Amino acid sequence: MLISCLLFLFVVPCLADWQQMSSTRAIALRAQRDVMKNTTILNSAVFGVNLNTVLFNNYGYNATSLDYMESLMDVGAQAFELNLYYNEDLGDWGLADFTSNEASFGFNGTSDFNITRLLTRINQFTSITETNLNANIMFLLLNLYSTSSSDENHKTGETGLATTFSNLMYAANPYYYKTLENITLNYYLFGDQLRIIPVIMSNNLGHNASYDLSNDLNLFYEANKTIPIKMSESQDTECVEPSSFQFAYDTEQHPYNNESFRSDLVCGYSAIITQPLADISDISLLLPYTYWSWEASEPNSTISNSHHQQNTNDTTEARDDDYLNRCAISTPNGWKAVSCELKLPVACSLQGNRTHFRLTDDKYSYFEADDACAGMDEGNYFFPVPSTPYEQLSLSQILPSDTHGVWINLNSLSSSNCWVYGGPNALCPYQHIVSRRIFKEMISPASVIALVLFCLIVLVQVDRLPVHRNRKHWRRVLKRKLQNEFEGIPS
Ligand SMILES: *[C@@H]1O[C@H](CO)[C@@H](O)[C@H](O)[C@H]1NC(C)=O
Ligand SMILES: *[C@@H]1O[C@H](CO)[C@@H](O)[C@H](O)[C@H]1NC(C)=O
Ligand SMILES: *[C@@H]1O[C@H](CO)[C@@H](O)[C@H](O)[C@H]1NC(C)=O
Ligand SMILES: *[C@@H]1O[C@H](CO)[C@@H](O)[C@H](O)[C@H]1NC(C)=O
Ligand SMILES: *[C@@H]1O[C@H](CO)[C@@H](O)[C@H](O)[C@H]1NC(C)=O
Ligand SMILES: *[C@@H]1O[C@H](CO)[C@@H](O)[C@H](O)[C@H]1NC(C)=O
Ligand SMILES: *[C@@H]1O[C@H](CO)[C@@H](O)[C@H](O)[C@H]1NC(C)=O
Ligand SMILES: *[C@@H]1O[C@H](CO)[C@@H](O)[C@H](O)[C@H]1NC(C)=O
Ligand SMILES: *[C@@H]1O[C@H](CO)[C@@H](O)[C@H](O)[C@H]1NC(C)=O
Ligand SMILES: *[C@@H]1O[C@H](CO)[C@@H](O)[C@H](O)[C@H]1NC(C)=O
Ligand SMILES: *[C@@H]1O[C@H](CO)[C@@H](O)[C@H](O)[C@H]1NC(C)=O
Repeated sequence: MLISCLLFLFVVPCLADWQQMSSTRAIALRAQRDVMKNTTILNSAVFGVNLNTVLFNNYGYNATSLDYMESLMDVGAQAFELNLYYNEDLGDWGLADFTSNEASFGFNGTSDFNITRLLTRINQFTSITETNLNANIMFLLLNLYSTSSSDENHKTGETGLATTFSNLMYAANPYYYKTLENITLNYYLFGDQLRIIPVIMSNNLGHNASYDLSNDLNLFYEANKTIPIKMSESQDTECVEPSSFQFAYDTEQHPYNNESFRSDLVCGYSAIITQPLADISDISLLLPYTYWSWEASEPNSTISNSHHQQNTNDTTEARDDDYLNRCAISTPNGWKAVSCELKLPVACSLQGNRTHFRLTDDKYSYFEADDACAGMDEGNYFFPVPSTPYEQLSLSQILPSDTHGVWINLNSLSSSNCWVYGGPNALCPYQHIVSRRIFKEMISPASVIALVLFCLIVLVQVDRLPVHRNRKHWRRVLKRKLQNEFEGIPS
């Protein structure tokens, strides 16, 4: 452990701030994934980049761009759009259009810059993150074009697209999964252990292209043929219940800013950054807004009086509150972590229709929220957590503009930084797997993300929830559960 963290000290200075997943974002991302588990992957709203316009054209058609791509995966990018070019002269596939000047920018041969190399980077990322804590869905959106060059330096030797892509690990394919729309995220990630959806967005191979794609279609989904996909300009997104996988991209007139970026995600679209950033590090301005669920920089970390290192500037109230930042509310800007003891209205949902929300007239603490919903309209309502962008949107629509927020069924009472659905007694599912599993990852070949993950165990604030004897009944119940509490989870 000590050695790893010493290593960590050497590795971290090589990385810019934007290249590291903050613990807050990792916790937020995991919580968002977990509430979505029972819903179909059609509801995915992730963020990503267009590799050609954002990376290759600005950082070169070489390994530097692939390094940045890896960093983007590390900080949570889950969709990549890119062009693949079939060289009609040499009969092989590559990442560069040799008929344009752009492709010579930074180009230093195909040995460090070819499709296999790019897929290898993805494979490294997915294998390191193939854990209950970190596995998540990823989209590869491909546009196919023809190019030509008889320069032997441009040879890649990758003559079959399917042969090359058969090395991509954890990829879904239409041969085994004809329809993806109705697979739940939980089944996709942990039942079938899939991660990636490779999609041919557009096929622009020339009329006289000598390449026959039909042999490859067992490995790729084709937009609107074997997978329903909507790709809209960011300005044209329509917030409706999705009937296809939805992607949005920014335009030259309207490059993404924090507001338009977030609003696409909230609307249920995956946001693909397509306009080049002045510098790739500028992406850090958007990273806090990569959720349809949480407000930027939430969930605020847990601080409670069990910690001696408490901030002496905390108000007395904050110091006395054991349940500080352990429960979630929904505000017009997204979810926030607050004290479970606040008195707030509760968001209740109609049994059988999760997009039908009603707020309680009175205010309650988090612990009373479940009963408050159950008491509404003869038991026709329950206490939910919005589990898709569309459900969250439906809730947002009934929030009064002056609201401080309303309770949703999400808390981190059982273990700090582990956000779970199911009321105060719900347990963190990761309590037992964490230590052994992450440790195993650490021993596997060195990767920055693995080091970061491991060291966050040490760095992330973990704290026990103290429960005073003289409090109400449920707290005694809680105490019994907490006696076995694992000390929070790493991010
Ligand atoms: C998902 O379904 C499981 C099994 O039915 C249930 O225990 C869990 O609470 C559900 N999660 C959410 C967020 O609704
Ligand atoms: C890639 O190309 C860019 C632009 O020419 C250059 O700055 C960078 O050093 C190159 N990286 C590698 C690994 O060749
Ligand atoms: C270009 O590639 C050669 C070998 O293919 C390598 O020796 C050289 O360092 C590379 N140049 C840059 C700038 O990466
Ligand atoms: C493509 O990249 C792979 C993996 O880095 C490498 O082994 C292979 O030699 C490259 N292809 C060419 C034609 O250089
Ligand atoms: C998903 O939809 C397909 C076709 O509509 C159907 O054959 C399949 O049984 C469905 N799967 C599930 C799990 O509902
Ligand atoms: C297609 O054929 C025309 C005429 O034979 C030729 O000029 C053109 O370069 C070809 N296009 C490609 C992409 O090979
Ligand atoms: C798929 O079809 C929808 C509706 O017809 C259309 O809006 C969308 O642009 C198509 N998607 C692609 C990638 O062509
Ligand atoms: C977006 O960023 C600007 C400037 O940093 C800030 O004033 C604004 O509040 C942010 N918008 C949202 C929705 O957070
Ligand atoms: C985070 O919680 C602390 C109390 O622990 C509070 O003082 C602070 O204002 C909160 N930050 C945000 C951004 O809500
Ligand atoms: C407490 O507040 C003072 C003045 O606002 C500030 O200078 C100091 O750094 C704060 N201390 C901590 C531990 O945050
Ligand atoms: C669910 O409730 C919403 C909001 O009240 C309503 O618009 C929708 O039609 C309802 N759906 C069903 C299937 O009843």
